[in-house]
Amino acid sequence: MRILTLLVFILTFIGCNKNVQKIADTKSPTDRIEILLSKMTIEEKIGQMVQYNGFWDSTGPAPSEGDSKKKYEHLRTGQVGSVLNVSGVENVRNMQKVVVEESRLGIPLIFGLDVIHGHKTLSPIPLAESASWDLELIEASARMAAKEATARGINWTFAPMVDISRDARWGRVMEGAGEDVFLGTAIARARVRGFQGNDLSATNTLAATAKHFAAYGFAESGRDYNTADIGTSTLYNVVLPPFKACVEEGICTFMNSFNVLNGIPATGDKFLQRELLKGKWNFDGFIVSDWGSANEMIDHGYAKDLKHAAELAANAGSDMDMESYAYIKHLKEVVEEGKIPMELIDDSVRRILKIKEKLGLFDDPYKYCDIDREKTQVFNQENKDEVLEIAKKSIVLLKNENNILPIKKDQQNILVIGELAADKTSPLGSWRIGSDDNTATSVLEGIDNLGIDYHFSNGVKLVEGNVDFINEVKINESDKTGFEEAITNAASADLVIMVLGEHGFQSGEGRSRTKLGFPGLQQELLEQIAEVNKNIILVNMSGRPLVLTWADENIPAIVQAWQLGTRSGDAIASVLFGEQNPCGKLPMSFPRSVGQVPIYYNKLNTGRPGPNELVFWSHYIDESNDPLYPFGYGLSYTDFTYSNVNIQITDTLKHEIKVNVDLKNNGDVDGREVAQLYIRDKVASVSRPIKELKGFQLADLKAGESTTLTFKLSESELGFYDNNGNFIFESGEFEIFVGGSSDTKMSKTIEL
Ligand code: NOJ
Repeated sequence: MRILTLLVFILTFIGCNKNVQKIADTKSPTDRIEILLSKMTIEEKIGQMVQYNGFWDSTGPAPSEGDSKKKYEHLRTGQVGSVLNVSGVENVRNMQKVVVEESRLGIPLIFGLDVIHGHKTLSPIPLAESASWDLELIEASARMAAKEATARGINWTFAPMVDISRDARWGRVMEGAGEDVFLGTAIARARVRGFQGNDLSATNTLAATAKHFAAYGFAESGRDYNTADIGTSTLYNVVLPPFKACVEEGICTFMNSFNVLNGIPATGDKFLQRELLKGKWNFDGFIVSDWGSANEMIDHGYAKDLKHAAELAANAGSDMDMESYAYIKHLKEVVEEGKIPMELIDDSVRRILKIKEKLGLFDDPYKYCDIDREKTQVFNQENKDEVLEIAKKSIVLLKNENNILPIKKDQQNILVIGELAADKTSPLGSWRIGSDDNTATSVLEGIDNLGIDYHFSNGVKLVEGNVDFINEVKINESDKTGFEEAITNAASADLVIMVLGEHGFQSGEGRSRTKLGFPGLQQELLEQIAEVNKNIILVNMSGRPLVLTWADENIPAIVQAWQLGTRSGDAIASVLFGEQNPCGKLPMSFPRSVGQVPIYYNKLNTGRPGPNELVFWSHYIDESNDPLYPFGYGLSYTDFTYSNVNIQITDTLKHEIKVNVDLKNNGDVDGREVAQLYIRDKVASVSRPIKELKGFQLADLKAGESTTLTFKLSESELGFYDNNGNFIFESGEFEIFVGGSSDTKMSKTIEL
């Protein structure tokens, strides 16, 4: 009898080794997954729910990592479902081979990486791209990123970050689409389409992740990882819609977040993950935790130890544990103690296997491992040209007194000041894991490439020492080397271009700031240069809105150049010298002072909106309520005028309306306008904002050309979420605004 059992076991074992392939050949996707699931031990099931950080040189475990031998063993015993931060065809192939050939069931790994704004060829940081409002280009940029990353073995990106944020102190605003839910939702959809394409089983598309679920962008006082405490109206109307849109676009995965939301750490939040996302929204992909976030529930005072954290996270619906070791160490015990039903483990595993199946990994686990593709499709000219297009359209012209811009090419004596002008790394911004330092075109190179004569004065050092992802950025606060030279040269220049701002790693994760001015000595230098030469063009390279109030009062031209990626310098030069007419519009308000933050256009009116002569209205006694530059704002080298707003009710019962408006390019150069439509729901059962973006269109108009734009609105734009999370429409008066910025005053009111 014993021998018989052993024989059966051996036969099953031999059969299973090739099982994944065989099952893939014969069955429907659901059958394959169910068959596989039925063969898995509890250890193997939990293994699928484990994600390890990279510990791999191309031939095996990296010696530097203490626990890499143990991790390697877990690969061989089928106790790892995914790894992150392992990339490159050779690495991926070799690691996949261990799992496929040596583990009992041979279930392939899924390889995740933060492919946030390109991989080796970098697009502008996501916030900058959002300033283009160009959904086609944004989708194409994600497409390009997917092509490059998959050519390097990656099949899962931890993007898009769809966290809405109103707080420029938070360093991660660079990774999102800004402050507005309507724009943010449209961009979230475009990015998912770009990454995942129409066919997930193709070799050049990858699984995307909507992150961070939820409310991470509302970290109190902009301090990263801090608590979020928001009301239901903000949760339903501002935070959640971009996530829901990602589900509607068929996104494969979600990532939960580090923060506590209303007292519950997101990783352990059953309401968000199980009830809302997997329940009400019917999300059929899987949820990965953020890095170590299960473990962090101990520090949050929510889990008493790692075992308790495993129980809370898995019960709440967090399917895969990124680097907490909570599941690998404790989940089996938790299941055996009956603290989590086996069905929930099966549900998580099923979800993970389903994504692997969709990616086609069961048919070919090495499908992303084509060495020729890696050689030809990464950092090639086509990709570099593509990112230039979006970089040009992401630049926002903030001020242009007396049309000092564009610079005339025959201008004799142009001086460029600022270390960032020569910097080939900072323009790559934060989140650039696959790219190499010094691969962006600098502003100086961009100007050179246009064949312009200039001289360069280093001026001010922004940072000291080597800066990399790990080291903290050191701000130079005292070394004025170069000041004198810069001031002397500036005094005799026709025009000064000052390239100031933030270093590439002064924004991003963990890079919160309390001051939003130029770091270090840059402001001082700017003021001293302005004393000797008024003809200054300020180029601000930053990963977030900065406070530019002094500059706005004293400098004739300001260009918001963000961090624009691989072709940054070319894009900036093309705007400065008029090859590209700037057309970006701000996706986030620029404050006048830090004290105004969080500042956003779609605020509630308050009971005392003022202004009046008394002191008792909602305002500051030392600063205006208005931002320096509002959401949606951006100038052009031409002028656009809006006229003849006309509203027709096209369906009275369904509350559908059509808004027509005439738009004219009044200048003598061609240009693009981002035409925007806002609404105000005058009276509602939950107070509504004074303005909400509900439509936008890109209009490319030749000099002198006019067009009529038509916006269509229905209940989905005119309605809102009540405090129970139900989407409702309420009849009444709506004011409809049209214009080129959120501060537009052009409006008409209708009754619906
Ligand atoms: C932590 C970040 O919050 C998350 O966005 C990222 O995807 C993971 N680390 C993995 O790098």
